[in-house]
Amino acid sequence: MPTLFETDVLQGLRSQPKKIECKHFYDQRSSQLFDQICTLPEYYPTRTEQAIMDRYIDEMVRQIGAGVMLVEYGSGSSIKTRRLLDRLEDPIAYVPVDISRDHLMKSAQRIAADYPHIEVLPVCADFTAEFELPVSTRPPTHSAVYFPGSTIGNFVPETAQEMLARIAPLCGRGGGLLIGIDLQKDIDVLERAYDDSAGVTAQFNLNLLNRIVSELDTDLTPADFRHHSYYNSQRHRIEIYIRSAKRQQVRIGDEVFVFAEDELIHTEYSHKYTIKGFAEMAKQAGLQLRKSWTDDRKYFAVLHLITID
Ligand code: TRP
Repeated sequence: MPTLFETDVLQGLRSQPKKIECKHFYDQRSSQLFDQICTLPEYYPTRTEQAIMDRYIDEMVRQIGAGVMLVEYGSGSSIKTRRLLDRLEDPIAYVPVDISRDHLMKSAQRIAADYPHIEVLPVCADFTAEFELPVSTRPPTHSAVYFPGSTIGNFVPETAQEMLARIAPLCGRGGGLLIGIDLQKDIDVLERAYDDSAGVTAQFNLNLLNRIVSELDTDLTPADFRHHSYYNSQRHRIEIYIRSAKRQQVRIGDEVFVFAEDELIHTEYSHKYTIKGFAEMAKQAGLQLRKSWTDDRKYFAVLHLITID
């Protein structure tokens, strides 16, 4: 039986233009590399979002309200979550949602140990699909979804809007969404954030090829490929690719893939929004902007949106 990874890689390389879905980026090595990306001088999103959270945490917890069930999408970055859990008034339950089971269970255990008064109910699910909220022992007055890291930007706007439309009913009456989005800005700043001088982002992107080599039967040579990224100003997004450094043929299993010189494999988008543009998209999905917080340079924003009655 081929693995999901193998099926997806083969299907992606058969399509024209070639692509590999970004959810396959993540293994142990790339998780380390991603942590490293977050500390790079050029990669402003992580530290900017954290600074916004630190500065406005009191206003944020007031917006969320007392007695909440806090649901976190893609619960990797528990530092930001802890800040909320530390300050929320009488939080009832914390529901981290992630597809990576090991990672999810480990971080859920740590949170449960440090916050004995909060019921921790991890859900192993793909948050791009529908899933049900667990039932807590004490009933919450409402739910709040926390979706940090500008991860929503990695989805094309149509998918992002569908996800928001699924979040709206989860929040319900009195509930809301606290979400981090990366803002449109100077192209150089954006392009450097996804092609840093230390080459960590390149390694992160190309690690996908290492995964193919270690998990599939192939003659692929990662050194024959390069990292490529640029800002598409019309679509307001960073586009990330793996570029073939030469004309070559690559065998995976019993299939042969032909690459032209400079042919690209698409791996990721990172959409950049304006607060206004995002609020309009959210409105279509049944969520209304209540409040937004940003940094002095207006690089990043954290938004609080509530369900439209
Ligand atoms: N959500 C992150 C972002 O869009 C993910 C990311 C950062 C990323 N750098 C990357 C994904 C490089 C692929 C390659 O900013």
